[in-house]
Amino acid sequence: MSRLDSHIQQKLAQRDSIDLAARWLAGEDGFIVEFGLGTGRSYSHLSERFPHREIFCFDRLNKTHPRSRPPADRLFLGEITQVLADPAVHARFTGRVILAHLDLGSGGPEDDVLPELVLDRIHRWLRPGAVVLSDLDLTLESPWQLERVDTTGQVEHADRYYVYRRRAG
Ligand SMILES: C[S@@+](CC[C@H](N)C(=O)[O-])C[C@H]1O[C@@H](n2cnc3c(N)ncnc32)[C@H](O)[C@@H]1O
Repeated sequence: MSRLDSHIQQKLAQRDSIDLAARWLAGEDGFIVEFGLGTGRSYSHLSERFPHREIFCFDRLNKTHPRSRPPADRLFLGEITQVLADPAVHARFTGRVILAHLDLGSGGPEDDVLPELVLDRIHRWLRPGAVVLSDLDLTLESPWQLERVDTTGQVEHADRYYVYRRRAG
């Protein structure tokens, strides 16, 4: 398979996974957080699917297109490990997040550990029933209280985007 075909498959799975989360979370109050804002493509889709939710984004740099740029007070810039070392950030989000979207992959070796590192720092942010979407498969730790969801039949190329749910209660 060409890299282009592989990329297209992953983007279809990402879009369908966000759409599935939007259906599951309809009517749920809470924040959405995105790790890996990039140029803002997935942020723009999240904004359309969750029009009445506050979406907070994290990235090293602001590379967004003006049409898909979060407001400055919902954008956290810097190395994620450093940003997540700030107790004020945790105070803002603990127990308030209904959806975490992780899209941090660059294909480099750091990808192997970064998603788990982020989850380890933010799992207390997740409300019961919260959804986690990830471009990379996560090795789950029991304190996170997450379960992998098989989205076959609901997401095109379901094996290309990883969906988890926080146990309720
Ligand atoms: C695949 S891109 C995100 C694409 C984006 N979701 C979109 O749809 O446009 C990955 C992003 O993660 C960011 N990133 C990766 N590792 C990071 C780290 N350690 N700290 C902060 N940002 C990081 C990169 O700067 C990059 O913008």
